[in-house]
Parts: sequence; structure tokens; C-alpha cells
Amino acid sequence: MANQPTLKTERLELRPFHLSDAKRVQELCGDRRIADTTLHIPHPYEDGMAEEWIATHRPKWAEGSEVTFAVTYPHEREVIGAVGVRLEPAHHRGELGYWVGLPYWGRGIATEAAGEVLRFAFADLRLNRVYATYVPRNPASGRVMEKLGMQREGYLRSHAFARGIYEDLILFGIIAADRTA
Ligand SMILES: CC(C)(COP(=O)(O)OP(=O)(O)OC[C@H]1O[C@@H](n2cnc3c(N)ncnc32)[C@H](O)[C@@H]1OP(=O)(O)O)[C@@H](O)C(=O)NCCC(=O)NCCS
Repeated sequence: MANQPTLKTERLELRPFHLSDAKRVQELCGDRRIADTTLHIPHPYEDGMAEEWIATHRPKWAEGSEVTFAVTYPHEREVIGAVGVRLEPAHHRGELGYWVGLPYWGRGIATEAAGEVLRFAFADLRLNRVYATYVPRNPASGRVMEKLGMQREGYLRSHAFARGIYEDLILFGIIAADRTA
């Protein structure tokens, strides 16, 4: 497998994470408002967790099970967010996920970064379907999915168990045929 590429958009550079990003990841993900609406980000975000997470990226890319990009402004290079796709190669399918650091919310960053990762997923990884879910108390994420051209496909009651509670999830998806229609 070739190395994970770096992607570019008008304002952003999406690159693989480096271990040297760990402190910054801990700083941004340490805010409860990031953990609260995601299913996999722990809170509190303790020392070593970011290093552990970043260390999984290269093997997961190599085995084709997941791709994760650090979102950066090219002139600053410091991480401002992350976008990833968990891959299910047997089905040519992936699950999109993202977070953006609090100081950068409301600038269209998630939409711009995830839009480019979607393009990469369909064009380069040759996926046929990408889906994503969000908790109902996170309408901003639903809006991002709408802006990405994804369609609402369902409401999954008590679908996830996270931090001691069952979470309803709203399911959005997009398929390759939608993008050429
Ligand atoms: C959800 C998240 C990624 C959005 O990032 P962002 O860079 O601010 O997103 P964008 O600026 O691209 O788009 C946000 C959209 O939501 C809208 N929005 C914000 N708050 C909203 C609310 N309470 N209700 C409805 N829409 C809302 C914004 O107005 C914007 O839409 P617009 O362009 O039509 O005005 C960010 O808030 C985040 O990281 N949250 C914590 C982690 C998380 O929830 N990740 C997603 C898990 S599914």
C-alpha cells in the first residue's frame, strides 16, 4: 500500500498525523464539548491517549481498515481538527467521522475538510457508499452532512452505548451514484 497522501483544499491541508501532534490533539480533544457529541473520544482525555491514537493510524492505513487526516491551515501546520473514514472493504463502504477544535467552529472547516475526504474516498479509495451518524443534540453535525450532499436515511433508537447512556443516532449516507447524478 502506498503511503497515505496529503490532500489540499482552498484553505486547508489534510495530512497524516505525526506523533508530534499529540499534545495539540490532547489540548483540543480535552474539551468536554468535543467528547460529548462523539462516541469514541474519551473524557477526560488523559496523557498518552493522543499518542496511542496516532500510533494506530499507520497500521490501519496499511491494512486498509481506516484512514485519518489531520486538518491544518497550511501556513500554521498546527492541527485544528480531524477527519477519518473507517473502511469496510468487503462492502466498498466507509463510515465518516470528524471533529474540529472549538476555536475553529463555525468557519466551514468541517464541511470543507470532510468534503475533500469524501472526494478522496469515492475517487481514490473507490468506495461505493459513505455513511455517518450523529447524536440528535448535535444539529451542527447534521448540517455538515447535509452540506456534504448526504441524505438522511434513518433514526436509530438507542443505537450506541457511550459514557454510561444509550444514545439515539441519526443516520446519513451518500452513494457513488448520488455524486454522478
Ligand atoms: C460538528 C462540528 C464538526 C462542526 O464543525 P464546523 O467546522 O463548525 O462545521 P461547519 O462550519 O462546516 O458547519 C457547521 C454548520 O452547522 C450550523 N450550526 C451550528 N450550530 C448549529 C445548531 N445549533 N443548529 C443547527 N445548525 C447549526 C452552522 O451554522 C453551519 O451551517 P451553515 O454553513 O449552513 O451556516 C464541530 O462542532 C465539532 O467538532 N463538534 C464536536 C465533535 C463532533 O460532534 N463531531 C461530529 C460527530 S458526528
